[in-house]
Amino acid sequence: MSIETIFDTMDYGTAPEDSTIALKWIADHGGISGPYINGKWGPFREDLLVCNPATGEKLAGMTISSATEVAAAVAAARKAQPLWEASGGPARARVLYAIARLMQKHARLLSVMESLDNGKPIRESRDIDIPLAIRHFYHHAGHAQLMPTALSDRVALGVCGQIIPWNFPLLMLAWKIAPALAMGNTVVLKPAEYTPMTAMLFADICTQAGVPPGVVNIITGDGNTGEALVASEVDKIAFTGSTAVGRKIQDATATSSKSLTLELGGKSPYIVFDDADIDSAIEGLVDAIWFNQGQVCCAGSRLLVQEAIADDFYHRLKARMDKLIIGDPLDKSIDVGAIVDPIQLVQIQNLIAANNAGEIYHANTPVPEGCFYPPTLITGLHAADTLMQEEIFGPVLVSTTFRTKSEAIEIANNTKYGLAATVWTENINLALDVAPKLAAGVVWVNATNLFDAAAGFGGVRESGFGREGGWEGLQAYSKATTSIKCPATIAAFTGNGAITELVDRTPKLYIGGKQARPDSGYSQAVYGPKGQLLGHVPIASRKDIRNAVQSQLASSWGKSSGHLRAQILYYIAENLAAQTESYAARLDTMTGTTSGKFEVEAAIDILFTYAAWADKFEGRAKSVPIQGVALAMREPVGRIAALCPDATPLLGLVTPMAAALSTGNTVTLFASQPYPLAATDFYHILEASDLPAGTVNILTGAQANLASHLGAHMDIDSVWCLSGKAITKAVKAKASSNIKRVWAGAAPEDHLSWLDAGTEIKTIWIPYGE
Ligand code: NAI
Repeated sequence: MSIETIFDTMDYGTAPEDSTIALKWIADHGGISGPYINGKWGPFREDLLVCNPATGEKLAGMTISSATEVAAAVAAARKAQPLWEASGGPARARVLYAIARLMQKHARLLSVMESLDNGKPIRESRDIDIPLAIRHFYHHAGHAQLMPTALSDRVALGVCGQIIPWNFPLLMLAWKIAPALAMGNTVVLKPAEYTPMTAMLFADICTQAGVPPGVVNIITGDGNTGEALVASEVDKIAFTGSTAVGRKIQDATATSSKSLTLELGGKSPYIVFDDADIDSAIEGLVDAIWFNQGQVCCAGSRLLVQEAIADDFYHRLKARMDKLIIGDPLDKSIDVGAIVDPIQLVQIQNLIAANNAGEIYHANTPVPEGCFYPPTLITGLHAADTLMQEEIFGPVLVSTTFRTKSEAIEIANNTKYGLAATVWTENINLALDVAPKLAAGVVWVNATNLFDAAAGFGGVRESGFGREGGWEGLQAYSKATTSIKCPATIAAFTGNGAITELVDRTPKLYIGGKQARPDSGYSQAVYGPKGQLLGHVPIASRKDIRNAVQSQLASSWGKSSGHLRAQILYYIAENLAAQTESYAARLDTMTGTTSGKFEVEAAIDILFTYAAWADKFEGRAKSVPIQGVALAMREPVGRIAALCPDATPLLGLVTPMAAALSTGNTVTLFASQPYPLAATDFYHILEASDLPAGTVNILTGAQANLASHLGAHMDIDSVWCLSGKAITKAVKAKASSNIKRVWAGAAPEDHLSWLDAGTEIKTIWIPYGE
C-alpha cells in the first residue's frame, strides 16, 4: 500500500477514555452530589438526578439545598472570613498553590468527570477546561502573595455568593473562587443543577489542601437555591449564566448594598474580511461555534463574511463541517459531544424549527441517537432576523454577508449583547482599526476563544459588567480602604417672601451645548439661608432627560484623544479659577457657610487632577502564554448620568464631570437639589470651553422624581448615584432594563476608583507569527 493510499483511506478509530475511577469516586461518596458546608459534606438527599447527557444514564443523585442550608453555608463563610483575611496574602497564596497542585495531580479524574457530567469532548476538558482552571489558581496564588504590596489600598469584600452555569463547570468555579480567595473573601458557590460533579471533586481537593472550614462552601441545587443565595446575607453576588436570570438577580439585589458582577449571554460576531486566510478562519470557526457544542457564552455564533469571498467560504466551511465527528464525549477522537440536557436540546430544536429565514445546512456526518445535535449553518439571514439576535446556545452558526468595513462594524454591533468578537484579516491596520469599534469586552484578531487567567474577560451592554481574570478581575473581589459615607440629603431653605434684586434671574437647563427651557415649563424658587429669594431654576422632566441623552449620543467626545481632553479640562479649570471670588460668594450666599472659596479651589484642583489623568490612565499588555499580545485597552463606559450630592454643590458637580470627561465619557449631571445655582452658573464656564455639544448636560429639579427614569433609560450606560440611598435604590430598581452599571461613588481622593468607574477594559488578543 502506498503512503498516498494510506492517507486516503485512513480513518480514526475510537480512543475511549476509561470512566471507572470517576464512577467509583461517585459511588464512594454515596452516589450523591450534595452541599459542602464548613468543611463537611451533607445533607445528602436524592432531590434531583444528575445524568450523563451522552447516555441518559444516572450519574448521581443531587441535594437541592434549602434556604436554611444556604443560610448555614453563608453563616459558615461569615464566621471564617475575618481569620482568612487576617491570615495575610502570603498564607492564602500557599493554600491556593496547594489547590492548584492537587488539581494538577487529579487532572485526569477532573477531565473525565467533567465530560461524563457535561457531555463535552474529553479532548476539550483535558486540554482546555482543566488546565485553564488550574492556571487560574496558580495565577491567583500570585495575586494573593502580592496583595500586601501591590494592592495595599484594597481589602476583601467579605462573603461572596457565586452562581455558575453548566457549560464550563470547573472553569467557571475557578474563575469565581480563585480571585475571591486571593483577596481574602470566603465563598458560597452554587454549581448548575446539570453539572455539580466537578465542584464536589473540588470540595474534596479543598479538604486535602488544608483550606480552613467555612472558607469554601458549595451548595448544590437549582434556581431556587440560587435565589436563596441571592437573598442571603452575602456581601457580593457574582453570576454567570443567562441574561434573563442575570436581570432577575439585578432586580433582586436592587434594594441591598450587595456588590454585583454579571457575566451574561452573547451573540458574538465573527467577521471575515476578503483578505483573510480562509482556511485558518474556517478552522477558527470550528473552535468558535463547535467548541463545547456551541454552548459557550462567547461563541462566535454570528458569522459575517465579506461578500466577495462568501460563496467560496461557505463551500469550504460546509466541507469542513462534514468532517466533524460527533460521538461519545469520552472518545478522544471526536470533535463534537453531547448537548448538556434534553431540555437544552429541545430549546435548540424549537428555535431552529421556528425559523423560516435563510438556508439551513446540517453537517453531513452521522449523529448518534440521544442528546446530540448536528453542526449546523444557516446562511442568507438578515441582521434583524431572530436567529441573528437570539442566543441559540447550541452548535448552530448563523450568517450574513457585508460589503464594506463600516457595514461589517454596523452589523456586528447590531445586537443588545457585547461579550466578544472575532476579526479575520491579513491586514493588521484593518484589524486594529476595527477592534476598538466593536461593542465587545473581548476581541480576538485572527484567533478565537483564547482565554487566560492574566487577561480580563467580561462584557458590555446586556452581556453584563465586571471583569474576570487579571488585575482588573481583582477589583470585583476587593474594595478600597478609603470608604465613603452615604451622603446626607439636605433640605432646601424656604422663602420668607422678601424680594431681592436677583429675582428676575432664571437660568435654564443646559442641553446639547445650549441653554434650554425645561420641557415641563415649570421652575422652582431657590432660597438662601435667610429665606431670601435667590432665583428660580427649571424643573427638568423625562423629556429633558431624553434630549440630554440624545445629545450625548451625538457628541464626538468619545473619539477625542487624551491630550485634547486634558487641554479642555485645564481650560475649564482656568476659567473657573478666573472667577473664584464670584463663585465663592455665590456658594456662601446659597449655603449660608463661609467655605465657598475652599470649595471653588477644591473644584479647580479636581479639574486639574483629572486633566492630568486624561492621557495617563492607561491599559496594559498582558503576560499571556501565547506568542502574541493581549492588550487590555481602557475604553469609556459611554453615556453616564450622575446624580450629584446635595452638599458641596460645585465640587459635587465638578468631580463626576471631570472624572467622566477625563476617561472619554459624556455626562448628564443632575445638580444638587437644595443648591442648584452653582450648577446653572457653571454652564457659563462650559459655554466658554471647547467641549463638543452634548458632552456635558446639566439638569435641575427634583432628583427623586427622575431617578427611576435615569435607571430605566436604554441609552444610558451607567448611573453614578452620588446623592444618597433612596435615590440609589430608585435607580437600581430599574437598572436591569439594559443591565445598567450603577455606581455609588468613591472617596474624592480615590481618583483611581473614579477613573475605573469611567472605563471598561476591552481585551484585544493579537497572536502573531507566520
Ligand atoms: P441559567 O441562567 O438559568 O442558569 C445559570 C445558573 O443560575 C444555574 O446555576 C442556575 O441554577 C442558576 N439560577 C437559575 N435561576 C436562578 C435565579 N432566579 N436566581 C439565582 N440563580 C438562578 O441558565 P440555564 O437555565 O442553565 O440555561 C438557559 C439558557 O441560558 C441557555 O439556553 C443559554 O441560552 C443561556 N446560558 C448562558 C450562559 C452563559 O454563560 N452566557 C450559561 C448557561 C446558560
